[in-house]
Amino acid sequence: MPNSRPLNLREYAFRAKNHIAEMAWDYYSGGSDDEITLAENEAAWGRARLHYRVLTDIAERSTRTSVLGHDLSMPVMAAPTAFHKMAHEDGELATVRATTRAGTAMILSSLSTVDVEDVLKAAEGPVFFQLYMYRDRMVSHDLIRRVESAGCRAIVLTVDAPLLGNRERDERNNFALPPGITVRNLTAQTALDFSSEAGSGLSGFVHDHQDPTLNWEHVEWLRSTTDLPIVIKGLCRPDDAVRCFDCGAQAVVVSNHGGRQLDTSPATFDVLPSICEAVGDRGEVWVDGGIRRGTDVIKALAAGATATLIGRPILWGLAESGEAGVSDVWSIMQRELDRDMALCGCRSIAEITRDLLGPDSTG
Ligand code: FNR
Ligand code: LAC
Repeated sequence: MPNSRPLNLREYAFRAKNHIAEMAWDYYSGGSDDEITLAENEAAWGRARLHYRVLTDIAERSTRTSVLGHDLSMPVMAAPTAFHKMAHEDGELATVRATTRAGTAMILSSLSTVDVEDVLKAAEGPVFFQLYMYRDRMVSHDLIRRVESAGCRAIVLTVDAPLLGNRERDERNNFALPPGITVRNLTAQTALDFSSEAGSGLSGFVHDHQDPTLNWEHVEWLRSTTDLPIVIKGLCRPDDAVRCFDCGAQAVVVSNHGGRQLDTSPATFDVLPSICEAVGDRGEVWVDGGIRRGTDVIKALAAGATATLIGRPILWGLAESGEAGVSDVWSIMQRELDRDMALCGCRSIAEITRDLLGPDSTG
């Protein structure tokens, strides 16, 4: 009998497609405009080459690392993604159980379909909270207090979505949340409405609630309003990254929102090395977008990143078989990273250095 389990993260996407409604599949898998950045994110990791070391005795090795002071099993975390109950009825509870049991951290989306308190009760490791800045500053303020009390260990402010990208699949489908699924952590004075008679209900929601004046003053406000570490997610330029640290951030995420916001923005791997160089030792640089293989993670770390995030693969695992599927996605990632590190001649995360990207990359 051939082995019928998905062997890698991309195979999970094909499986997931059979388990979810077309509207959910389009929402999860889609990008903006012509989906050029969506495709480029994955392609850029594939273009880079790993110049492995030999004769290094890799019998004993470890993928463990530290992110914001948390000891993690691997430098790969769960990116914040919205509406997990659209993939599986257990929603974010399944994701947090599988992710923290795998020994890594989850970033919970502002648009979670499970209460943050319940997510934290189910967690066996660190959970960070992804924040959007809302038009009503008190909504953001109250949400920060709530997630602090629940036990989240950092605030990840997403800055690449002052309004929603042009997702034509969602427009065509009149994207709306299925009956019975709601966002659980926001309390706003106007209705949290994701329904739609024409066009994307998410686009309408973002327009109604998220603050289009989003600017550096909001980062400073955030710094003054919480003692939690602040991570700024969604940038692609060294000058923006450096300014985040000037404003008191502890980490930045090089990200284009998985190709869902500005189409033809650069693949994250293509801008990562120059951002890491500009940031130096001022803080951590995380990266996401199209990371699907252990080798992609090694390339990110060799370019100078502290950690990586995966978004869609978690949703694919969740859609395929709930908590078990997400656990399997993590096992695959851990196994690939361990094997690929060994083949690169690396016994520890510290041994993943810039020279692995080749003689021309040692900038
Ligand atoms: C996202 N992403 C996202 N980011 C964020 O800050 N808050 C959010 O609520 C969401 N929601 C969301 C939903 C879905 C369906 C996707 C695919 C993505 C972006 C996410 O955090 C991350 O940047 C990308 O998903 C990374 O790219 P990959 O791994 O999906 O290619
Ligand atoms: C998305 C939003 C919710 O990418 O961040 O769909």
